[in-house]
Amino acid sequence: LPPLRVGLLGLGTVGGGVVNVLTRNAEDIARRSGRRIDVVHASARNLGAPRICPLNGILLTTNPMDVVENPNVDVIIEVMGGMTPASMLIRRALELGKPVITANKALIAHEGNELFALAQAKGTVVAFEAAVAGGIPIIKAIREGLAGNRIEWLAGIINGTGNFILTAMRDEGRSFNDVLAEAQKLGYAEADPTFDVEGIDAAHKLSILAAIAFGMPLKFDSVYTEGISALKTEDVRYARELGYQIKHLGFARRHENGVEMRVHPTLIPERRLLANVDGVKNAVLVWGDAVGPTLYYGAGAGADPTASAVVADLVDVARTLTADPNHRVPHLAVVPDQVSDLPILSM
Ligand code: HSE
Repeated sequence: LPPLRVGLLGLGTVGGGVVNVLTRNAEDIARRSGRRIDVVHASARNLGAPRICPLNGILLTTNPMDVVENPNVDVIIEVMGGMTPASMLIRRALELGKPVITANKALIAHEGNELFALAQAKGTVVAFEAAVAGGIPIIKAIREGLAGNRIEWLAGIINGTGNFILTAMRDEGRSFNDVLAEAQKLGYAEADPTFDVEGIDAAHKLSILAAIAFGMPLKFDSVYTEGISALKTEDVRYARELGYQIKHLGFARRHENGVEMRVHPTLIPERRLLANVDGVKNAVLVWGDAVGPTLYYGAGAGADPTASAVVADLVDVARTLTADPNHRVPHLAVVPDQVSDLPILSM
């Protein structure tokens, strides 16, 4: 097969990580994909900005639409973040029948229902493993690995920045703002860090996990959301003295007559595994009726871990691109009669 030609929208932390991982592991990735994968065209806001990756041979532009429209680009990776212009660019790529891989949880949470429908209508796909829990393959775990289960509930630490802040407040007694500034410097935080500390980023991710786990459409507006910005160093330290850790938890449960989704600071007894997830790490606990509890742990943010998930989707796309589009399975295998009157339960 000829190489798969990739167009990359965004050359920041995640985009740079994608180029690095594709370069470093090129041989293994080619073997697993059945073909070579080359980034041929990339867009960046500022072409002169310092980069974490080599750019040899990649055509560069400041106009992301050039990349989308390039007939020599087979697949689009969107790692620029934000709703605009990412939404318009992804829609155009799908209109052209190009598969799209995105790490954009805000966009999937708000517009995923439409984007998935558009992809299906055009015989292509939107892949979004990197949108939830960074490098942990949690979408694939729930969708494929647990496909035989009825999933009852899931709970997770799904914002690396928030967990990094809570851990440093506890262990080093540092102030909230001081640690947040460090998380921003390390490239963990969102462009608008209130998304991290007010639980919005976690709510985006939780709505995606719940949709996959329960076979329902994305319902971001129904997530009860509370942040960690009001927590003080003393709160975190007193909790520990009492035998608990404060973790910023996302939780989704299926009830007989509805689904409950919430994000808020939670006291977790120290002996529990989730209480021991520290730093930028994420963890998600998923409970299926057949398998019981399963736990997924790993880096929730950062260049290489997020690139790990993006590249996994790329390998998936490379493997399935030749498959008959009429036989592709929808992203959200929505179970209509379960969804129609699933009220979102209030707290
Ligand atoms: N700001 C996000 C986090 C990045 O800290 O988890 C990964 O989604």
